[in-house]
Amino acid sequence: MNDAIITVQGLKKRYGSRVVLDGIDFAVQRGSIFALLGENGAGKTTTVRALTTLLRPDEGIARVGGFDCVREAANVRRIVSLTGQFAGVDELLTGRENLRMMGRLYRLDRRTANERADRLLERFDLVETADALAKTYSGGMRRKLDIAVSLLAEPQALFLDEPTTGLDPRSRLHLWEMISELARGGTTVFLTTQYLEEAERLADRIAVVHRGRIAAEGTAEQLKRLVGGGRIELSFRSEAEAAGGARLLNGRIEDRSVSVPVAQEGSSFEELRLALNLLHDFGLEPTGVEIRKPTLDDVFLGLTGDARKEAAG
Ligand SMILES: Nc1ncnc2c1ncn2[C@@H]1O[C@H](COP(=O)(O)OP(=O)(O)OP(=O)(O)O)[C@@H](O)[C@H]1O
Ligand SMILES: [Mg+2]
Repeated sequence: MNDAIITVQGLKKRYGSRVVLDGIDFAVQRGSIFALLGENGAGKTTTVRALTTLLRPDEGIARVGGFDCVREAANVRRIVSLTGQFAGVDELLTGRENLRMMGRLYRLDRRTANERADRLLERFDLVETADALAKTYSGGMRRKLDIAVSLLAEPQALFLDEPTTGLDPRSRLHLWEMISELARGGTTVFLTTQYLEEAERLADRIAVVHRGRIAAEGTAEQLKRLVGGGRIELSFRSEAEAAGGARLLNGRIEDRSVSVPVAQEGSSFEELRLALNLLHDFGLEPTGVEIRKPTLDDVFLGLTGDARKEAAG
């Protein structure tokens, strides 16, 4: 990759005998949004902590902006910011005070700190509540304030660990817009999430972490291609007809519908035509037909489910 701001190679971390990261590799392009997707305990926060210099890996190399996250940690800290999984705002200060205080902690002079605080309040739609104590904020407002604090130092790379967990759909949408806007402004955004929709909506590239390894990485489209071309779903008048259809098409039956996997992307119309012809030859006419493209859920369940079966077997 020519302009990677983040590179990770062979990253390993264990706690006692528990291997948490088992050799992770990926690269993130400057100015892009990268999503690390994984279940609880997959190693997302651990990866973020290694990249933000809060944790020392046992093996492997993590670099941000060309700096080694262990040997040149101070340089890395100058260009990154982290909004953790659990909000870090001071509840006994107002939104504005939180921002101003953190600005001073980042060693901005008073005027710059105040200016940036005002700008961020505006940008995050917090002007009206800027002078209310943070403890009166809703979860969504707290989250926005937390991210605003992370932006005070104008980082090149912003790490967001599960930025929208626990937020209602409207707050989530709003935050997604903010995050997209940040990336459009040139900030690289590295986020972790358990929400497939979030990864798909926001990220230029997605890595699925499972059992401490990257199970797959690519654009949402590329990941979907991993699970093939999707499915054709046919419904029938009766369970008996559905059973006949399932036998003919080698499909999976559920009540009165039959689901047939499509082998290749783009071949679904052709396969549908063949399926309908075959059914017709045997006197079966479906009452409904749907072509379903693979979703990121199919990818995720496929990747993480298979690994689980492997482990069990
Ligand atoms: N300091 C620690 N000591 C021991 N085990 C730890 C420590 N930190 C993390 N772990 C373990 O490492 C594994 C990965 O944790 P991590 O926090 O990276 O997962 P995660 O993907 O962020 O999960 P979540 O979605 O729940 O936030 C978990 O099994 C966790 O229990
Ligand atoms: Mg986590």
